[in-house]
Amino acid sequence: MILLNDKIHVEKDDLRRIFYIKDEDKAVPFYIQNAIVDLIFEEGGFKRKYNDLNDLELIEDKFIKKVINIIDNLYKVPSKTDYSDKYITYIWYYLPNNMYKVWQPLVDLLIAGELKNKIKVLDIGTGPATLPLGIIEFYKIIAENLKDKEFVICFHLIDSQKKFIDYANYLISKVLLPKNLKVQVNSLVANVKDDSILKKDFKYDIISMSNFINHFEHEKDFDAFKLLKNLRDNLNDDGSLIIIEPGSEFECISFKKIRNKLVNEGIYNIFSPCIPIWEDRDKINCACFSTYIMEVKKPELIQFLLSKGLKKFKNREHVAYNYTVLRKDGLYKYRIERNKQSFFTIKEIFEHQEKEFRANIKGIVKKKSNKNLSFCICDGTMPNKDYWIKIDESALNDTKEAIKKLNMGEKISIKKLKVIKKENKVNMILDIKSKLQLFY
Ligand SMILES: C[S@@+](CC[C@H](N)C(=O)[O-])C[C@H]1O[C@@H](n2cnc3c(N)ncnc32)[C@H](O)[C@@H]1O
Repeated sequence: MILLNDKIHVEKDDLRRIFYIKDEDKAVPFYIQNAIVDLIFEEGGFKRKYNDLNDLELIEDKFIKKVINIIDNLYKVPSKTDYSDKYITYIWYYLPNNMYKVWQPLVDLLIAGELKNKIKVLDIGTGPATLPLGIIEFYKIIAENLKDKEFVICFHLIDSQKKFIDYANYLISKVLLPKNLKVQVNSLVANVKDDSILKKDFKYDIISMSNFINHFEHEKDFDAFKLLKNLRDNLNDDGSLIIIEPGSEFECISFKKIRNKLVNEGIYNIFSPCIPIWEDRDKINCACFSTYIMEVKKPELIQFLLSKGLKKFKNREHVAYNYTVLRKDGLYKYRIERNKQSFFTIKEIFEHQEKEFRANIKGIVKKKSNKNLSFCICDGTMPNKDYWIKIDESALNDTKEAIKKLNMGEKISIKKLKVIKKENKVNMILDIKSKLQLFY
């Protein structure tokens, strides 16, 4: 990892070696969970005894049951959520659940060498600083690996709920920072409307929002497109708009429709994850359902609630969500490949006349099924359908293992993919003769 012209650059290996991308489930640090317990105790009027997570056992059952009941019933009806009786519930369950979602958009920027050492971030609908805490943890790793360089994150946090802003300030104040990482926080309690316009001279490297534009946060007449369009003027020329949304099919598709409109009207380009391989694209109409799957170690705070009867995602060891990174400089996470050499596009595979042949292809992973050992890729040439690649029994074990760890938005290349056409169906099979190459 190096710092070049104020931007951080990584080698392919760094993502796995330094950030343990793919190799370790994300675990919420003890000190963040313990600071959340501080707030739970303060709010509940309880007194801490051990100053660690064992204190959870001291909380009255009635209090815990109320929290569990809210979690099991929250976000079921798509209408504006009233948080006034849910602040504690949010920090207890949703903060640890959502905190690391921002890592993948940051990894995308890192891969393209587009993450700066000094950044100004505007986080809208910040809640208890869920996403900023994720950014800080990410930068801590970078700062610890580049000890002789200085890193600064200047946050502007906005939320309509004063309580959340108070929690946000408290939790960030508890973060343990390496000496070469400075974090500044400016926070504002404000109701952001779709026609909210920030002063044009407020410019940011990252404007982020997580779980903000969906149907659980606004009245029906809220126009997310309008808000996102207005924010363009507040992005630096090489800035990124990071939008993270829930993993449900309904939210995913409505979110992608807004994204498409922003792209098709020339306001932003998609930087990641849905990008073409072979040719630039200034129009996009695909709104397929796909989710990013993040493997997590269930935070102790959530394990405790499960032990007390929480049902939500009881057996799930991952967090599924959707995200996109938009920019206005035309940049993509992976550079467009101008030289096709011996590769087929997916469209060419479908148009090819032979009934059985082998083809080299490249694409961005769209979906994956570990159960059926198959995955689906897109290269931008036939975006509206899912084209699944099956893994044959004969495939090498290393290949099978690598496929299990694939995730949405990853670029891959397959040499000698077996293609069999039968009765209008195209079967794509990765077998012992095929060679899978991963970007990281
Ligand atoms: C689901 S929470 C997300 C919090 C945090 N970003 C996260 O991902 O955990 C939505 C947040 O948006 C805030 N919010 C909703 N409507 C808002 C508005 N019009 N202006 C400012 N904040 C708003 C809520 O108070 C809440 O904190």
